[in-house]
Amino acid sequence: ASRKITGMPSPLTATAAWPGVITHYRDRVQITQSVAPVTLLEGNTPLIPAPALARALGQGKAEFELFLKFEASNPTGSFKDRGMTAAITQAVADGAKAVICASTGNTAASAAAYAARAGLQCVVLVPDGKIAAGKLAGALSYGAQVIAINGNFDDGLRMVREAAERAPIALVNSINPARLQGQKTAAFEVVDALGAAPDWLALPVGNAGNITAYWLGFTEYFNDGITSTRPRVLGAQAAGSAPIVHGRVIEKPETIATAIRIGNPARWNEALLALDESDGEITAVSDAEILAAYRQVARLEGVFCEPSSAAGLAGMAKGVREGWLDLDGQRVVAVLTGHGLKDPDTAIKGAAEPVTIEPRIDALLGLLSLS
Ligand code: F0G
Repeated sequence: ASRKITGMPSPLTATAAWPGVITHYRDRVQITQSVAPVTLLEGNTPLIPAPALARALGQGKAEFELFLKFEASNPTGSFKDRGMTAAITQAVADGAKAVICASTGNTAASAAAYAARAGLQCVVLVPDGKIAAGKLAGALSYGAQVIAINGNFDDGLRMVREAAERAPIALVNSINPARLQGQKTAAFEVVDALGAAPDWLALPVGNAGNITAYWLGFTEYFNDGITSTRPRVLGAQAAGSAPIVHGRVIEKPETIATAIRIGNPARWNEALLALDESDGEITAVSDAEILAAYRQVARLEGVFCEPSSAAGLAGMAKGVREGWLDLDGQRVVAVLTGHGLKDPDTAIKGAAEPVTIEPRIDALLGLLSLS
């Protein structure tokens, strides 16, 4: 027997507030909308003001307004869910039974989750030993077939492209246009939240799908008169994996920021177009600079992102320090693409070890140094 409990939201009202990005932006997400969206109610992520971090990044040279677009709040902990709801919905509409992707980890976890929800088989190729623990844990838990390759992301992408041509399996990497349709909604959310486009958008660049998608979103709102400006885009690549900065393919990309350990981005040309049209900048930041920004945002703002996500912040610090980035008086949005919990090993490795004590109050009081 069922009983009516007053005051409890029904499943309908509980989800009606935010229906996920396909339904919320249904007139703009250009996919085949012939089937119900495969959604985990992704999107609607917070735009967190970060005044202390802005002061630190300004280094006494610039005062500016900083917001963090915290994409880690998506259901699988990264921005990939925006694109994956669209790609998997399109795959279902197309009658696919299986999906495949290459990934440095987040795409794999996201594809696995949305495929699980849609009842599709999911195969993911990841670089052996170069994927953060939380991403592997996700992909495995959602039930994907995880294949580790003795190669990097670029090798994996080449293989899955060919697999999708030769076998009945849908490719859900960001070369799939549906992915961009979903991911561009982050730009809409930024404008919807601020009431205007920011002056700058800073973000990490790996395979260059996200920079392409943001530019698509801002441009769409701009062309439709919803915003009268578009931001300048600041892209950041890891120094050991910076093909766009150096203008050449990197055969053996390396960086502690494994999410962006990519030497031959699929959306390279689109990234160049976004940088050119926005009068933007792209810069390479060292692993030390990435880790410094990664710790700084956690300690100053209580916001824990994965190392790759901090590359955009590191790029801002570098640009201000070197004098080629004038942020004074500007409004800046930095995209934090993935959650810090994705990569617990990097977090713990770089931190002081916890002190172990006997379970006695004097042992505890002896350790307290309160001011
Ligand atoms: N930040 C994070 C946390 C990522 O996982 C990625 C890409 C990026 C930034 C860069 O975005 O590729 O669109 O330029 N991760 C992909 C993956 C490659 O497989 O999860 P991009």
